[in-house]
Amino acid sequence: MAEDLFAKAKSAMRKAHAPYSKFPVGAAIRTTDGRIFSGCNVEVVSFPEGWCAETTAIGHMVMDGGGRIAEIAVVAEKLRACSPCGGCRQRIAEFATPQTRVHLCDARTGVVETVTMGELLPHSFATDSLAGVEE
Ligand code: THU
Repeated sequence: MAEDLFAKAKSAMRKAHAPYSKFPVGAAIRTTDGRIFSGCNVEVVSFPEGWCAETTAIGHMVMDGGGRIAEIAVVAEKLRACSPCGGCRQRIAEFATPQTRVHLCDARTGVVETVTMGELLPHSFATDSLAGVEE
């Protein structure tokens, strides 16, 4: 089921622009209406200006009209199970629910572990947080 997402994430990983870290990453999103978007990390010589694979994939989803994330797969060439960084957890959460599945993949074998956004980002700062506390 998530294997097609893994395949998309892996082919995105092969497009990574990661000349500084030499740590290629790929991500693929399935939206709740069945569309798939992928992305790779893009590094910049001024290091903080680079961005993550998940961020590229989210940008593609937004440019296609937006949507909600049903599941997302992440794969890194050099890691057995690449977990989204803190910033990407917040970005994914923007378009997800605590039940959204996050597949951590091994580039050779596929999905190693599936976790939820609720597990990755508990007690999150969420859209309804902006409303503040009702007196
Ligand atoms: N990276 C991602 O693309 N996604 C993550 O969730 C973790 C880190 C990238 C950023 C940078 O280009 C490289 O991996 C090393 O940190």
